[in-house]
Amino acid sequence: NITAPLIVVSNRLPFVLHKNKDGSLSRKASAGGLVTAVAPVVIDCGGLWIGWSGIHTKEPLEHIPESDPDDKAPTAGLLSKQVSVYIPEQQFDDFYNGCCNGTFWPLFHSMPDRAVFKAHTWEAYCNVNKQFANSTLDALRKSIKELDEQEKYETCPVVWIHDYQLLVAATTVRQVVEEEKLRCKLAFFLHIPFPSWDIMRLFPWDDEILQGMLACDMVGFHIEDYCLNFIDCCSRRLGCRVDRNNMLVELAGRTVHIKALPIGIPFDRFVQLAETTPKFLKLAESEKIILGVDRLDYTKGLVHRILAFERLLEKYPEHVENVTLLQISVPSRTDVREYRQLKEEMDQLVGRINGRFSMPNWSPIRYIYGGVTQEQLAAFYRDSAVALVTPLRDGMNLVAKEYVACQIKDPGVLILSPFAGAGGMMHEALVVNPYEIDKAAETIHRALHMPLDEREVRMKQLRHREQQMDVNHWMSSFLATVGAVNNDNDDDP
Ligand code: UDP
Ligand code: G6P
Repeated sequence: NITAPLIVVSNRLPFVLHKNKDGSLSRKASAGGLVTAVAPVVIDCGGLWIGWSGIHTKEPLEHIPESDPDDKAPTAGLLSKQVSVYIPEQQFDDFYNGCCNGTFWPLFHSMPDRAVFKAHTWEAYCNVNKQFANSTLDALRKSIKELDEQEKYETCPVVWIHDYQLLVAATTVRQVVEEEKLRCKLAFFLHIPFPSWDIMRLFPWDDEILQGMLACDMVGFHIEDYCLNFIDCCSRRLGCRVDRNNMLVELAGRTVHIKALPIGIPFDRFVQLAETTPKFLKLAESEKIILGVDRLDYTKGLVHRILAFERLLEKYPEHVENVTLLQISVPSRTDVREYRQLKEEMDQLVGRINGRFSMPNWSPIRYIYGGVTQEQLAAFYRDSAVALVTPLRDGMNLVAKEYVACQIKDPGVLILSPFAGAGGMMHEALVVNPYEIDKAAETIHRALHMPLDEREVRMKQLRHREQQMDVNHWMSSFLATVGAVNNDNDDDP
């Protein structure tokens, strides 16, 4: 439990607004790992969430519409404690499509060839970050005002900034907090990988990014490798004094705590959904489903995955008519060229393979280009014999964790890439390099034939770990770390 006010800041709010034909607004749950993990935490702590609503209006939004009555998403009830940041459309385009997803997303996923470096999108990025910082400061001042005199001395509000869209927001927050002597702890969490110095230094304004992150008291990453990359960059680019053993970085007389905080999922919620949701899939008696669930993103290794499945059918014709790949690809960032190209490539690939292998009563790939509800997702997880989680690079990957949570009986097999953060922890999965198409096909074949006792032993361990290290554990580790920061950097009057 958290007693101090919590202000969460992320580019996206937990829902996206849509303008209907009659001009009214409706809302839909946002996709992606950040929202899945952060939403239950904000709900539990009664925190305030600052973010973008998904639409552009001429003026700031006065009222956020209520969710549809049949919306069962965990965030449906989350209404009053949200602040929608208003950003003009052109500036948002340069910020979001240009800098966030045209530059930082590929760069931080160590795919620099896909990254575009442009001064004007970086400028828009810095301006938008300032606007998020200003909304955060307004909210902070307001929540400090609401504290009574005693609380003003005893509690210290926590501002928690999330992800690569807001890497330099803390620079402005820190500056104003110091000028106005506002009491608060500033924390940052990165939901994607942090690259090595060799990659990071390609970005012309890398020093400003590092300084922005170091404006916080605490900086969290999913795994230790990303922490060490960050510390290395601070040392080599900014000349900071660093302590790698204790994960500390010193800048301008302040000590910043760096911490590996592997994110978890709302485990019990997924178990409950798996226990209560009816079957959605109509399967022939001997038919097995191999499941993929991803935003349609080039980091997820979708093309490699489909090719591995094709190789499986070529090499082991016994699976023809017996095994189907169900791939759910959630549309993502469709204004960015790389994403549109991937959509076309996938459409063609799926069409070609279905054309090649389909029978009158069976097609090898069921391809859904769209989102599904958490209920449907839990049922798909539960009823699939194999989950293919094979990104080329991924910060953590929550789909792998949600899949194991839903294996409540006759467990399936998780196939996992070592290039996802989850790959370093979920040791009982079958680990496969997604670039090795032949080996991946062999691994799928092995998974389809794995005996029940081996599946049970592997899944028991996997589930136990995810239950222990669920999203509540993530939150309490975060709070414990921020609490420890209190003692070191506190400048009580
Ligand atoms: N997800 C979703 N809508 C869907 C399918 C999936 O919101 O239609 C969720 C899924 O449950 C998971 C998240 O999106 O929590 C994906 O997180 P992950 O860490 O795997 O990847 P990310 O999209 O954050 O890169
Ligand atoms: C990943 C990122 C999130 C992002 C999500 C969806 O999970 O870490 O910050 O919100 O993808 O992407 P989008 O661009 O639609 O917000």
